[in-house]
Amino acid sequence: MSQVEAFSAAEVIAAKRDRHSLTDPQIDWVIDAYTRGAVADEQMSALLMAILLNGMESREISRWTDAMINSGERMSWSALSRPTVDKHSTGGVGDKITLPLAPLVAACGAAVPQLSGRGLGHTGGTLDKLESIPGWRASLSNEEMLKVLQDCGAVICAAGAGLAPADKKLYALRDVTATVEAIPLIASSIMSKKIAEGTSALVLDVKTGAGAFMSDPEKAKELAHVMVGLGKRAGVKTIALVTAMDIPLGLTAGNALEVRESVEVLAGGGPSDIVELTVLLAREMLETVGITNVDPAEMLKNGKAMDVWRQMISAQGGDPDAKLPTAKENLTVTAQSSGTILSMDAMKVGLAAWRLGAGRSRQGEAVQAGAGIEIHSKPGDVVAAGAPLYTLHTDTPAAFARAQESLTNSVTIGDLPKDGKIDRLPLVVERITD
Ligand code: URA
Repeated sequence: MSQVEAFSAAEVIAAKRDRHSLTDPQIDWVIDAYTRGAVADEQMSALLMAILLNGMESREISRWTDAMINSGERMSWSALSRPTVDKHSTGGVGDKITLPLAPLVAACGAAVPQLSGRGLGHTGGTLDKLESIPGWRASLSNEEMLKVLQDCGAVICAAGAGLAPADKKLYALRDVTATVEAIPLIASSIMSKKIAEGTSALVLDVKTGAGAFMSDPEKAKELAHVMVGLGKRAGVKTIALVTAMDIPLGLTAGNALEVRESVEVLAGGGPSDIVELTVLLAREMLETVGITNVDPAEMLKNGKAMDVWRQMISAQGGDPDAKLPTAKENLTVTAQSSGTILSMDAMKVGLAAWRLGAGRSRQGEAVQAGAGIEIHSKPGDVVAAGAPLYTLHTDTPAAFARAQESLTNSVTIGDLPKDGKIDRLPLVVERITD
């Protein structure tokens, strides 16, 4: 016998359309009914658009998040002797920070259960990057995840189908109905997964600038405040850093290219912005769980973080010594004029890497492990006309033309202003704790 429904989808949609707040029972019902298929995609699409246009008050966002958590399982790490802490980044170009950060924080004494995603659009996904390591497996059972955490202190893997299934359906629908950009929907989507994951503490890296999906710093701060509030209400110690994504992070964008750069950081080298942000986030994560007597910068230098990385990659079937894949073809793009690089547009670089095959345009599509961009000079560097600016890598040389098109005007080269300062966002725009 079919279930008697507590509400009709049309009345819930009409309430939000007419700018009313949804009641707790309406929210619980609509999320549950959508997850089990009793609310159709076209009905949920209308409700999502009404939420995007008319917003939600904080009680509604909190209840919506709880309903998404309750749509699936809640993980527990009570068997671990170490405190758990995770990091989530809203995503950006060249943002490979999770790769060195998770083993680093584990080397300092915390446990890092990092459930990650795949890339969609111009920002890369952590799992796509790690899958360029021969043999490495993203999908683990809950038991395997616990074992890797116990043995290595950190695990990076795909979220299982049982974790916040409402979000999986909603996210796919938002992606095709132009409703991704609503702050209540972004905050509840991210936080439902992080709370269900069972971490005791969380550091959020909310990106802002041209290469972030919250390019406006004020919107990024608002999103950070909402997510910190949701975390705290759920008993997860949460802080957020709003950080710069006006220019790419590091000197690579692409899967195997970013793994290579992350390994350089774990070996005590690597680009200074990656090292600075990795150490900064590690300090924040360790502080949230009360570990203040270990210096993460030292753990990068003395090889302890690298030891955890090697153990963690091996535990998931990967060979940390294997040669990383490289693309079949490459092409160098040179500077058009001489001078100082004054700006570099992260979005244009991200789009070019995506067009070269590093990213996907539809869920489920394969990505090229070796595709992407190496950046030879960044803002502040002096270049001569004709000097290499980027090297493009791809298995499909037909992609070079469109990638080069994306890179048109991606840098400005000129004279350094009189005060010697380049106009760009600081690495940390704001730290948000409430
Ligand atoms: N990442 C998520 O998991 N959900 C969003 O809505 C946006 C980014």
